[in-house]
Amino acid sequence: MKLMLSARQWWWLALAAFCWPLLILGVDIANANLGPDPVKAVHIRLGDWSLRLLCLTLTVTPLQTLTQWRGMADFRQLFGLLTWFYASLHVWVYLGVDQGWQWPLIAADMAESRYIWFGLLSYLILLLLALTSSVFAMRLLGRNWKRLHRYIYLAAPVAVLHYIWQLKGNLAVPAVYGLIVGGLLLFRVASWLQGRPKLGQFWPRWAGGRLIQPAKPR
Ligand code: HEM
Repeated sequence: MKLMLSARQWWWLALAAFCWPLLILGVDIANANLGPDPVKAVHIRLGDWSLRLLCLTLTVTPLQTLTQWRGMADFRQLFGLLTWFYASLHVWVYLGVDQGWQWPLIAADMAESRYIWFGLLSYLILLLLALTSSVFAMRLLGRNWKRLHRYIYLAAPVAVLHYIWQLKGNLAVPAVYGLIVGGLLLFRVASWLQGRPKLGQFWPRWAGGRLIQPAKPR
């Protein structure tokens, strides 16, 4: 029996695996199994999953660099879209279920809770990246597509700050997320510094430079 899965099959498996938490959440809602504050519990689960998926999306490029496997790009798009999907449900629960679409209430909450602003900034970045994630958008934006999609490196720490600032108790879990996001950002900075052309490469030969083509930025 052939046990090796094709890249496409892995893709479907990953999609099913990350839709699973939503199914479990639906079952818990249907069975009223969410504890004394069900809205808060839904908020927390959706928020936690969007942050986990955001971290997973950030691990794809380092893994690609380490393994040199180009097929990872499809997974980056999948995880990115799932991040946006969970974050959208999280925002929708806040606006519709928590605040009942009462815009004066929402405005008052935003005025006194700075963590909402961080959530909003992170969400707007995720939305922009989701809207421009198609091959069509990639072709349309050309070189700017990569520049735009680097904003994921801003969305992640901002989401961690959103988490930290809404918390009233133990900071251990958000600190772990902070370490993961910080480590992944450091990896990106290190690989960017490695691929960056050296100063001497730009100098004319008479000034000691080698005049070789600078490495293409990754
Ligand atoms: C407009 C955007 C957003 C709004 C209005 C919002 C709102 C909230 C609220 C009200 C809570 C507190 C839940 C509670 O304890 O009752 C919360 C927690 C949280 N949010 Fe958001 N959020 C937004 C965007 C995001 C984004 C983009 C992410 C991640 C990518 C995220 C991740 C989280 C996490 C991880 C928590 C903490 C869950 C926990 O305590 O374990 N949020 N958010």
